[in-house]
This record gives sequence, C-alpha cells and structure tokens, in this order.
Amino acid sequence: MTATQRDESRVPPYIKGMSGHITLRDDDYVIDQNWAAYSADEHAVWDFLYRRQVDILKDRADPAMLRGLEQLNLNRGGIPEFAKINVELKARTGFEVVAVPGLVPDEVFFNHLANRRFPAGQFIRTRAQLDYLQEPDIFHDVFGHVPLLTDPVFADYMEAYGKGGLRAMKFGRLKQLAALYWYTVEFGLIETPKGVRIYGAGISSSKDESIFALDDPSPNRIRFDLERVMRTRYRIDDFQQTYFVIRSYDELFRATVDTDFAPLYERLGDGVGYGADAVLATDGVVTHGTQAYAKAKKAG
Ligand code: PHE
Ligand code: FE
Repeated sequence: MTATQRDESRVPPYIKGMSGHITLRDDDYVIDQNWAAYSADEHAVWDFLYRRQVDILKDRADPAMLRGLEQLNLNRGGIPEFAKINVELKARTGFEVVAVPGLVPDEVFFNHLANRRFPAGQFIRTRAQLDYLQEPDIFHDVFGHVPLLTDPVFADYMEAYGKGGLRAMKFGRLKQLAALYWYTVEFGLIETPKGVRIYGAGISSSKDESIFALDDPSPNRIRFDLERVMRTRYRIDDFQQTYFVIRSYDELFRATVDTDFAPLYERLGDGVGYGADAVLATDGVVTHGTQAYAKAKKAG
C-alpha cells in the first residue's frame, strides 16, 4: 500500500486535519544524518547489535517486524542511510525517518508522527553501552521502531498517536497517553498463530529484555485493554513488571483511534492508578507473573 492508497475513511472525523493548526514554538529538531561521517567502528557496532538481535528475535519477534527489516534492507550491513530507507518506506506507507540529535520535546515528537515522520536518533551507542543506554540511539530507533512502520495499520496508529499527543497536551493528560505508548509501541506483545511475540521497540532493541519479556516467568502478561493500560504505572529503569498483549494491530488501532479520549481523560483524572505489577480481577491474564525478578532486585 502506498500513502495515496491509504484509506482516509479510517481516520475519525474529530482527528482529521488536527495537526494543521499546531504551531511549533521552536524548530523541528531535524538534522542531517551525515551518514558519511560514521566511523568504521560505529558501523561495526551496528553490525554486532544487528546480528545479535536478529538471532534472538527470529523466533520471538512478530513476523511483521522481521519482514520490515528485510523490506527496508536493514540487513545489508553497516548503519543504514535514511535516504535509502525512505525510498522503500515512503512507497509502502508514506512514512519517513528523519534524524534528530536525541530526545526531542513532546510537541515536536507528536508533530513529526502526526505528519508521518519518525524522528530517529542520529548517533550510535559506544562499545561501553552495548547492552543499555538511556537515550534512544539509531539502533533503538531504526532497528526497533522503523521496521513496523512498513505495516499499514501500525503506521496509521503511529500517525494517529501523534495527533492524539497534540490533543492530550491540551487536556493535560500526557502522562496517561505516555503509558499507552510505553505499553504498546515500546513494550508491546502480540498474539500470533505461533504464540505470543514481541513488537515493542524497547523490547526488540534490548538483548536481555527480548528474552525476559517472552520467556521469563517473572512478569505479568495481560490482554490489552485501553483504559487499564492508561491507568498503569511503568518502569523506566528496569524490565517491565507487566506486558500487555494485543491480538492484532487492527485491535490496537480500533481500540485507540476509534475512541474519543476526551471522556476517558475526564474519567482518568490526574492519577497514576495501578502499580506496575498489579493483576486485577477484571484482567485477561495470559501469564500471572511470579515477579521473582523484581522482588529479587528489590531485596538485593
Ligand atoms: N483517539 C485518541 C484521542 O481521542 C487519539 C489517539 C489515537 C491516541 C491513537 C493514541 C493512539 O485523543
Ligand atoms: Fe523508542
């Protein structure tokens, strides 16, 4: 599917054209990727991470993600060039990747997504940070996030999320909307015919969490429910204590894009609600985690 083949009727009326009247205070933070300036060692770091992750993910990631890696030629070796990714990506879903220096302000981030641009960190982690770093680098952003942007429904979700973000700012409910991003785009799991698989980029770009999220008895795995997710606290410093499982990107799209969040924001209030390890009587429990990992961490 190309951008022009995209079904505009899928976008609900209250959200159509929303990004148009948002004016940015600052610039869009976009920089040149400056691909020629990456060193041989930086390319080697990408290759090391790429091979290590693909090996872990081949039976753990959603096939749509693995397919995206190949469709965008991210498997060709070395740090990919955004201009080349974009030829392929734009043709498929109308999305493009733009380079930014690192984290950008919320409004800038939402505005990019709302216009089908994914802002990706330009830099790559050093060899001292192979397993963990706090700021999203090019490996997290491009290996983790970009492959799924080849999926038409997921791409539509990302655009809608950007528009929803701009809207949430007006309601003062960014915290609640951030929980949705966290538990889907970053740490989401998906049901497939072969079992539960990874689609969240925070998982798929992390060696240890890719194994933990799917194989470890510690975390809860709970069926996705929009309001439940938006009421749930999350860990930014360690593996998640709960993962939410969607049945399909269509389920995610319908549940979020078709819902007007205004009454939901009203209901949610400003609170943070459920703990990161909560299991409720109303939950669709896929795995009731032991929380052994989190408990040992706390004790240790
Ligand atoms: N439907 C949401 C709103 O009313 C917007 C949104 C769409 C948010 C998709 C997240 C994901 O604001
Ligand atoms: Fe991310």
